Amino acid sequence: MLIRPARRLRGRLRVPGDKSVSHRAAMLAALARGGTTITNFSSSVDCSSTLEVLRRLGVFVERDGATVRVEGAGGDEGGQRFQPPSLELDCGNSGTTMRLLAGVLAAQPFASTLTGDESLSGRPMRRVLEPLGLMGARLSAVDGHAPLRVEGRRPLRSIRYEMPVASAQVKSCVLLAGLGAEGRTEVFEPAAQTRDHTERMLRWFGVEVRTEELSGDGGRVVVSVEGGSRLTARDLTVPGDISSAAFPAAAAALLEGSEVEMEGVGLNPTRAAVLDALRGLGVGLSVEDEGETSNEPTGLIRVRSEGGLTPAAPGANVIRGALVAQLIDELPVLAVVGTAVEGGLEIRDARELRVKESDRITTTVANLRAMGAEVEEFEDGLRVEGPVRLRGARLQSYGDHRIAMAFAVAALAAEGETLIEGAEECVGVSFPEFFPLLESLTER
Ligand code: S3P
Repeated sequence: MLIRPARRLRGRLRVPGDKSVSHRAAMLAALARGGTTITNFSSSVDCSSTLEVLRRLGVFVERDGATVRVEGAGGDEGGQRFQPPSLELDCGNSGTTMRLLAGVLAAQPFASTLTGDESLSGRPMRRVLEPLGLMGARLSAVDGHAPLRVEGRRPLRSIRYEMPVASAQVKSCVLLAGLGAEGRTEVFEPAAQTRDHTERMLRWFGVEVRTEELSGDGGRVVVSVEGGSRLTARDLTVPGDISSAAFPAAAAALLEGSEVEMEGVGLNPTRAAVLDALRGLGVGLSVEDEGETSNEPTGLIRVRSEGGLTPAAPGANVIRGALVAQLIDELPVLAVVGTAVEGGLEIRDARELRVKESDRITTTVANLRAMGAEVEEFEDGLRVEGPVRLRGARLQSYGDHRIAMAFAVAALAAEGETLIEGAEECVGVSFPEFFPLLESLTER
């Protein structure tokens, strides 16, 4: 993909439905009793992988664009009745599909195999094998990697699980398995609360989920569900994806004179830290509350750029600690914004970036350097100097959608043209409309 620099971005748009919420909506609708219509379902390839896997498990799924109808497989006794699949369950590039469904399948009385593409097959799966093993399911993998063979069992044993990594996918996996366990399954978050879409969506489907703060532990929470809880089908609407909205927001922040408005964006507090981070970097960003859709707060985000980014407070250009888990997917594009900030930007405590769709520390650093930025790489993050004017360059997407989009944003603000190899092929993983939408906002 060849990207020419832009003068500024102007316009109003709607980003497609949230990817994390859409995965959960489809899976929980499949577990529920009755039919659910999901509106504004994510257009991402990742969420199509989830629908396809559910079909292979015998679930009736009908799709018309962003509207998805799922006939739940929930049985009368509260047990789920998926069919043993005759084919492997291909999760494509999607970690959420694989890790959450591993939890669902652990409580099904049959064996199945979850596979993924090359990137997904390189990502760590011990983090779900371990708790599901403790619950009594038998899972095997090759050296902790996909393909995952799941020999489910019902009922599972309930556990009290201290998560070793801050991961919403692991938390969700254990909670979903917990629905098929005897007794109450508890998951202790290691630090700040990771995205709580599973908890909110389970409540939407009528399950009682407890989220309790651990006293004297800096806001750490324990989340729990009771085994055998029933899910009741209920239509829902998915909010816009804040992780997708972060890209036009960042582009507007970098280009003086820009003004971009995005409506209906999900503003779940466990996801919205990117907005505070942008404000902290001096971005003119405001939010108007638009109420809740299906248990998720939404709003309108407005970004205005008057040029020149100065940190709002001392230390605002260091992102570290527990907060990192709440903006993990936005870190590559925040690093790009960091190149325009007085004093640059430092990101630490973000080791998890190394096990995403690509090693996002290495890939972000490589592309920033190729564009002429001065960057230091740490084991757990990076530091980029600023402000600098980026130079157009020949870049790799590394097959990673968020790297492709982060550097498309960088390219708009750079001097000269940028070529990002493989960008068009991979952005569809989360945001297929990305390039046309960005172009529709661009003034040259
Ligand atoms: C996700 C959780 C995060 C995030 C991913 C989606 C989810 O992963 O990076 O894009 O939908 O639960 P981890 O749980 O591995 O942190």
